[in-house]
Amino acid sequence: MIPALTAQQTGSWPLTGPVDSVQGSTSQTTALVESMARLINSHRITGVLCAAARLGLADLIGNTAMPVAELASATGCQPTALYRVLRALASLGVFEETGDGAFRNTDASLLLRRDAEPSLYGLACMTSRMHLYAWPELLHSLQTGKPAFNKVFGSGIFDYMADHPEASEAFDRAMAGYTEVVADAIVDAYDFSPFAQVIDIGGGAGALLKKVLTRYPNVRGAIYDLEHVVTRSLESIKDTVWEGRLSGIPGNFLESAPPGGDLYVIKIVLCDWQDDDVKRILSNVRNVMSKGQRLLIVDAILPAGNTPSFAKLSDINMMVITGGKERTEEDFRQLLAATGFDVVSVNPIHEWVGLIDAVPCD
Ligand SMILES: C[S@@+](CC[C@H](N)C(=O)[O-])C[C@H]1O[C@@H](n2cnc3c(N)ncnc32)[C@H](O)[C@@H]1O
Repeated sequence: MIPALTAQQTGSWPLTGPVDSVQGSTSQTTALVESMARLINSHRITGVLCAAARLGLADLIGNTAMPVAELASATGCQPTALYRVLRALASLGVFEETGDGAFRNTDASLLLRRDAEPSLYGLACMTSRMHLYAWPELLHSLQTGKPAFNKVFGSGIFDYMADHPEASEAFDRAMAGYTEVVADAIVDAYDFSPFAQVIDIGGGAGALLKKVLTRYPNVRGAIYDLEHVVTRSLESIKDTVWEGRLSGIPGNFLESAPPGGDLYVIKIVLCDWQDDDVKRILSNVRNVMSKGQRLLIVDAILPAGNTPSFAKLSDINMMVITGGKERTEEDFRQLLAATGFDVVSVNPIHEWVGLIDAVPCD
């Protein structure tokens, strides 16, 4: 397998270079200019990755090299055009040309398979169906404080997805893919064994609960989410080992939360919302909790200052797509204090997420 997506290919950051020269006269400056140009052009990379995912190229290729002509015929593409896209992807380490007009998978392209774990197939599909349209309107969000998504699609993302099952399924798969990346770190860092019933507020496709239930055979889980999401998630676990241990509760967390959880998890949900809505969600959960029950928030925790972090661009994604935002540890502490919780611990387990463990206060 060849290495994928090196820093040289994608640009690495934070970008550094001479601050006293803007003429490109030194090799260091030239490298900086090239890196900046590559970053500005990164939509090209997004475009070819999303096209490859939506065509299912990695799934079609499987374990052996496949001629472009066959791939083109299976996907309804023009062979020459598809060859050019695969050649560009191979230059990034995503697929590899075998020299006879055929391509095989690499470690990176295998991540685009639907059945990979983690799979980034859903992320690419979601991005191409929604994010690629909304992000060009970032200036709208900056000027109005409103999500660009609503301007482009005519409604908020969760209302839009209720009417567009393909976008909604891609979104669920994208979130599940993100979860698969961090789920081991979560179940390694947090002891779920004391809790018989875990309710995942906004639990989506149930990817985290599946991991928890696998690690803790005595735990049962429930996904609390919008009705169309719960219906699809339950459908997907029919006749699997999860049926019977993983249930679904349809509802609206802005209005209420279901009673009966020993542990309530809220993962990558609060970042979708502004503070007033976060207070509503947390208060609704607090209202059904009593002493001895626990709340686990799993969300990105923004580091201070110039520290590079996945959360800092994710924060802009929230601005553009949902109108929410990423938060610092102090932001979470204030929101929890305002809604009747004491913070037990904060554990930054991964660059993408930290764990905030809380209990209802007296
Ligand atoms: C960013 S996703 C996170 C999904 C999951 N927790 C994860 O980390 O993979 C946000 C979830 O909140 C759900 N959601 C959005 N608005 C909701 C509402 N008003 N009531 C209940 N669930 C909602 C979405 O359907 C989605 O599954």
